[in-house]
Amino acid sequence: MITAALPYANGPLHIGHLAGAYIAADIYARYLRLQGKDVVFVCGSDEHGAAITIKAKKENTTPKEIVDKYHAIIRKSFEDFGIAFDIYHRTSEQVHYETSQEFFRILNEKGAFEIIESEQYYDQTAQQFLADRYITGTCPKCANENAYGDQCEKCGSSLNPTDLIHPKSTISGDTPVLKKTKHWFLKLDEQQEGIKKWLEETSEKNNWKAHVIGQCKSWINDGLRPRAMTRDLDWGIPVPPEIEGSEGKVLYVWLDAPIGYISATKQLFKEKANNKTEFSYNHRDFGNVKEEDWQKYWKINNDDDDKTELIHFIGKDNIVFHCITFPAILKATEQYILPDNVPANEFMNLEGDKISTSRNWAVWVHGYIKDFPEQQDILRYVLCANAPETKDNDFTWKDFQAKNNNELVAILGNFINRTLVLTHKYYGGKVPALH
Ligand code: MF3
Ligand code: ZN
Repeated sequence: MITAALPYANGPLHIGHLAGAYIAADIYARYLRLQGKDVVFVCGSDEHGAAITIKAKKENTTPKEIVDKYHAIIRKSFEDFGIAFDIYHRTSEQVHYETSQEFFRILNEKGAFEIIESEQYYDQTAQQFLADRYITGTCPKCANENAYGDQCEKCGSSLNPTDLIHPKSTISGDTPVLKKTKHWFLKLDEQQEGIKKWLEETSEKNNWKAHVIGQCKSWINDGLRPRAMTRDLDWGIPVPPEIEGSEGKVLYVWLDAPIGYISATKQLFKEKANNKTEFSYNHRDFGNVKEEDWQKYWKINNDDDDKTELIHFIGKDNIVFHCITFPAILKATEQYILPDNVPANEFMNLEGDKISTSRNWAVWVHGYIKDFPEQQDILRYVLCANAPETKDNDFTWKDFQAKNNNELVAILGNFINRTLVLTHKYYGGKVPALH
């Protein structure tokens, strides 16, 4: 079971996305398919959260318009570039709403949540609670002045909005005030020992990347704290309506998004069982499958020979969610398997500067394909040869040119050319049998 991070549908796909997660995931999936392994490779658009609503506000439109627009662009870029997902789904689909609400119910019944009334930042001008990216401020750990309310992208710390020094609303720019509200918190503190043990055993057994283990250790050593899994927003999946106090509350995007891997798998098997193609592709033959077969890839199964290996490909800013929060959620259900590896890549910079959608500093995948039609493999090669596997790397056009001219043309091209010429000259254009 291979997953690639669901990109936010708030902008087109760029080379940083490809280098961070998708090329590595694609290579691994293709490799396993060639070996004849039973592999399922899923992805889709992440269509909730402040990343979307903030973009909608900026473009003076609705979140729905934004996700429809960018879902189509991203899906096409992946297709044109040749990333061979079995399915590219969306988190706005009905099956995903149902799956996410079902998770919420299970977690609620298993006692994984506690309801905490706390003071949260509120923007009096915009009359709205501010969570996550609605609030920025100075990171208490590394002093980055543009840390978000949920995370500092500079040092990777996971944050609560009240941790920020000099908080500021990204809607009005005002300094927010504190106001009381109730939320469902995942009791990560109670799961600390279980997650620690699982992390230690799994990372050791499967030889996890050092920087991934490093980040995990630092969170565990800091001590896990309860984290809110709901938000006061009108864009998102509603908390199941039969649960008391659910009005006006939606699921935190980082609760619903990774569940998107599961709903994508459900949709895939639904389409394969019914010979339909709506979100799925035909990169392999699934044979005769049933709708409920998705469970084989996600549910705990005690038959050793038939165990699923779950691998999450992500960028390094997603590590905490895939190595701590989502495993804690899966574990709490007592029904789902946990990841075997999370081979996160570091970042690919562009000409020495951090790639940024909002600052328009990126090489867009659709733009590349327009400028270099049919030349996907050159970019693929360059991003792969220079993959940010253990440290941040830099993409430059000079290096792109050099790798194309010196490696692909001069070495690989020349090798193939000579081989073909000699084959024609001495063997009549046929590869001779081995003696
Ligand atoms: N949309 C997130 C990002 O771009 C990634 C979500 S991954 C998943 O950082 F786990 F939520 F699916
Ligand atoms: Zn920081």
